[in-house]
Amino acid sequence: MKTSEFKGFYKLSPEQRLAEVAKFSDLTQAEVDLLSTSSALDIHAADHMIENVFSIMPLPMGVAVNFKINDKDYLIPMAVEEPSVVAAASNAARMARVKGGYFTSNTGPIMRAQIQIVNVADPYAARLKLFEAREKLMEIANSKDPMLISLGGGMKDLEVHIIPSPLGDMVIMHLIADTRDAMGANTVNTMAEALAPHIEQITGGRVYLRILSNLADLRLVRVRAVIDKEALGGEEVVDGIVWAYTFAAVDPYRAATHNKGIMNGIIPVVTATGNDTRAIEAGAHAYAARNGRYTSLTTWEKNSDGDLVGTIEIPMAVGLVGGATKVHPIARLAVKILGVKSAVELGEVIAAVGLAQNMAALRALATEGIQRGHMSLHARNVAVAAGATPDIIDTVVAAMVKERKVRQDYAEELVKQLKG
Ligand code: MEV
Repeated sequence: MKTSEFKGFYKLSPEQRLAEVAKFSDLTQAEVDLLSTSSALDIHAADHMIENVFSIMPLPMGVAVNFKINDKDYLIPMAVEEPSVVAAASNAARMARVKGGYFTSNTGPIMRAQIQIVNVADPYAARLKLFEAREKLMEIANSKDPMLISLGGGMKDLEVHIIPSPLGDMVIMHLIADTRDAMGANTVNTMAEALAPHIEQITGGRVYLRILSNLADLRLVRVRAVIDKEALGGEEVVDGIVWAYTFAAVDPYRAATHNKGIMNGIIPVVTATGNDTRAIEAGAHAYAARNGRYTSLTTWEKNSDGDLVGTIEIPMAVGLVGGATKVHPIARLAVKILGVKSAVELGEVIAAVGLAQNMAALRALATEGIQRGHMSLHARNVAVAAGATPDIIDTVVAAMVKERKVRQDYAEELVKQLKG
């Protein structure tokens, strides 16, 4: 059986790590070659992705190890500029393995689009007229994408909300669609635009906006894990993490930072797979505020055995088809390395990384603080920026950490000394 569990993975060279990833994910030599170049995205391909392209911004891509999710092992590519993120996720996943890893569920790949209808004389009657036209509207929306219908997707329902506003009552129709393995923005936006004239006719109002909602609360993924108290460092650490979580649960100032730590795990996988990071951020934070007060996206409790139990529930509008995921060669390979078979599976893996990342941060914060671990990794960046060459990086880092002086000026001084 394939295992993602590694000891001392961090001690390998990038080439050795790539060889391990290639073995795990059955990569071809051509795929390995592509992953070894720092310019795998051709400038002309990039030019077709966005406008005014003049260069490419490469990011380091690490791989998180040790993840077991629903009894399946994953190696997880993470593209991110922040040190310590990949190490922390891998470390947390190793602790979670003791009690079986991560367990998931989801609400399916269901997206909402909103259609804003104004100047309706009788909004309550208009609401019911839209419900009466439900089948007809679904038929029109579903005529737009026969492929999606053949895969079991398509518009499935509608909701109608009447929302008072300073300009008068607005009738807001929500188009609810199953977008299968697509992120779904294009799918639901096309459907919403196609329905607009029919909706104007039905309601007698004027349609303005026709656009998806990033508050993808019908596209939730849920992940749960039990973390063995001994693996964590004892029951005192469990209590510390529960206190740390409770702080975020009741205080929006802390919740913002707590959730940022979750996004430290989530966004790098979203980036690596070519998905829309802004959509994920918007959905996550809007969901965290859904009850009128911004709060934690995770929960942490102590179970009757004294172990730590964590959960996350988060909107996850990611896709495997369409967008950069299929166009960007590295994003395609990231999906292959993950070995995910559906957008929903990808979403669950991403949320598991978020939960792991959150646990790692809370554990550090509730015990020794994050600076010691963070600083030794940060020190590498400082050393490189100060001109340390590969032969002296480790020495410069060790000296800065030992002296607790992780600073550019001190690094420059050390480099000067070492280079004689
Ligand atoms: C740093 O990037 C993330 C943390 O601040 C998260 C947290 O405070 O929970 C460590």
